[in-house]
Amino acid sequence: MKDLAILILAAGNGTRMLSNKPKILHEIASRPIISYIIETAKKISDNVVIVLNEELHHNQELSKIILSYNIRTAIQHKQLGTADAVRNGIVDIDNTYTLVLYGDVPFIEENTLRTMCETIEQDHDLAILGFDYDQQNQYGKILLIAPQIPAKILEYTHTEYSSIASNYVYNSGIILAKTELLREFFSALHNKSVTTKELYLTDIIEFCYDKKYQVRLHKAAHNEVIGINDKKQLATAEKILQTKLRNYWVERGVIMIDPEKVFIDPSVTIQEDATIHPYVFLGRNVHIKSSATILPFSHLEGVVVEPGCVIGPFSRIRSNSHIKDNAKIGNFTEIKNTIIGKSSKASHFSYIGDVLIGDRVNVGAGAVFCNYDGKEKHQSIVEDEAFIGSNSSIISPINIGRNAFVGAGSVITTDVPNNSLAVARSVQKNALLSKK
Ligand code: UD1
Ligand code: MG
Repeated sequence: MKDLAILILAAGNGTRMLSNKPKILHEIASRPIISYIIETAKKISDNVVIVLNEELHHNQELSKIILSYNIRTAIQHKQLGTADAVRNGIVDIDNTYTLVLYGDVPFIEENTLRTMCETIEQDHDLAILGFDYDQQNQYGKILLIAPQIPAKILEYTHTEYSSIASNYVYNSGIILAKTELLREFFSALHNKSVTTKELYLTDIIEFCYDKKYQVRLHKAAHNEVIGINDKKQLATAEKILQTKLRNYWVERGVIMIDPEKVFIDPSVTIQEDATIHPYVFLGRNVHIKSSATILPFSHLEGVVVEPGCVIGPFSRIRSNSHIKDNAKIGNFTEIKNTIIGKSSKASHFSYIGDVLIGDRVNVGAGAVFCNYDGKEKHQSIVEDEAFIGSNSSIISPINIGRNAFVGAGSVITTDVPNNSLAVARSVQKNALLSKK
């Protein structure tokens, strides 16, 4: 649909979240809630406006997000309800249709919104998205006078709410309407004496029914329209997303021994026949290739793991790392900004930060690359087939040559040439103990 503006309502106080942090900046899979809905909105329209309150308008973290997506903002100075938020948001909108999304309903799918857009053009004035849900909840109820015909929405706080037991679906909050219809609704609200503190956008359904406007009901699954108002719903949203991501990868041939115990960031990619063991955290920008194995309790971020590698148990890999084919990273090894070459091994207790490691290198137990001098980080290079003995300290920047050998317990402060043995530790002296 070409002539469409999208409003994202995000100006609410979010008090039910019981947090000093604004609700929409809480995270699902390590990303702010608000970024999900903005991303979806941007796929559908170039004219996206987010409605914020004053505090959010000055929030630096949010400003960065808004800038990165290049969307517009409108301010709702007083939190007078969802209708008032839309009224503030549409001031500068001259598109024929306006789609209203809620900042706390992050998982709505592009296809569902596109279907709403396609069908409204077939002679409807407003489309609303509802859902069925069989658990105790506080969503608004859309009352239906016929299977497809909404007549009114009752909010949870309404006295009649609990007596409604049939002919209703729950309200997702998502509405698509002719912009002029929204304007007409607002001027009717303006003329009506306002008895409640807040103005509800949901009252537009009764308004349409009275005025005989054509309203079309669409439906979605609850998982797609979960609203996040409190920390319990935040946890449910995380669970929904994680289940979706795990299923996605398992269906593409990834082996997960116990999927429910794996955390996966949406940016992760995993090839078929890779094996992910329980209690593994795959954070942002992790790419695992075919037949690699990630053993339990490993925490990975910003890394490409090539075929045949074995990582863990208890490994930590941080940003900008690349573990090449058949390499092995073992327990209590931390790696950062490092390339580990093919078939190389760092099996126990190492810190490897800012290093280029060649092929078939062995990094012994407890070896540490001392990359930070208190002011700057330095890089070291370890060439193919070198051997770093256990408990060595490599004071970066150092170049350890091809096939070189560092004796265990050495503190290496100068480069080691190819094919050389470096031993840098005090010579052992044995003295006879005096007899007791
Ligand atoms: C709302 C709906 C409810 C629906 C549910 C779905 C209304 C009146 N109720 O309830 O029928 O089942 O969403 O999740 O719409 N906002 C503003 N300005 C305000 C108030 C709210 O921008 O003055 C924003 C909020 O930031 C939020 C959205 O509007 O993103 C919805 O507000 P919220 O308070 O979360 O409404 P719910 O109680 O969830
Ligand atoms: Mg809500």
